[in-house]
Amino acid sequence: MLRRVKQKMDKNTQLGFIHRFLPPNKASGSRTREHVTRGKQVFATLLLLHGTGGSEEDMLPLGQQIAPEAAILSPRGKVLENGMPRFFRRLSEGVFDIEDLKFRTYELADFVEQASKLYGFSLQHVIAVGYSNGANIAASELLLRPEIFSAAILFRAMVPLEPDTLPDLTNKYIFMSSGLYDPIVPKQQAERLFALFKKAGAKVLLNWQDSGHELTMKEVQKAEEWMHSDSVNL
Ligand code: MLT
Repeated sequence: MLRRVKQKMDKNTQLGFIHRFLPPNKASGSRTREHVTRGKQVFATLLLLHGTGGSEEDMLPLGQQIAPEAAILSPRGKVLENGMPRFFRRLSEGVFDIEDLKFRTYELADFVEQASKLYGFSLQHVIAVGYSNGANIAASELLLRPEIFSAAILFRAMVPLEPDTLPDLTNKYIFMSSGLYDPIVPKQQAERLFALFKKAGAKVLLNWQDSGHELTMKEVQKAEEWMHSDSVNL
């Protein structure tokens, strides 16, 4: 018993990121989306990415609402800004340390790959769900390491960086939700990111919310509907 608790604790600090992993919830009812790969059932895994000052616990209820059936991998950002965890360094509000962002993007992608081996989930069905700073690193992953997600839900994302060459995102599904009155992410930032994803061939949808930077229940429901709609083939 003690050994099992210790093994679980080891797993949670292994791989270089403090994180939570929740296995798929096979009993979650009628909306379960299962993928059959070589005769095996594979459930999607949500990669939850919190905002500045968040933790690996913050987004768990959101993930469970968006896809109650899915497994969850939720890391804590490793960069501290005045004690607040983030996924990469910034120089000031909205001005990113691009070298650190690139380094952290690769580091997080490697973590997801290693976690898929440790926990046995398929890298073919990983869906990122990010808010604010978490949405920005998810956008950076799509631009630099797109192989680790098949879809992404980005709440309040902005253009994290402009890659030298655009990736091929033709088989990626992206739901962006942005606030019309967001004081942190100007409207044109969300529009530029949307245009970048579109140019790269992604199946991207931009939902405008009558709100600021804070997340609303309405858009969480929209993200949930989008993910379970027939137009999203995960
Ligand atoms: C960022 O730094 O990623 C964005 O400005 C959003 C934030 O975390 O405040």
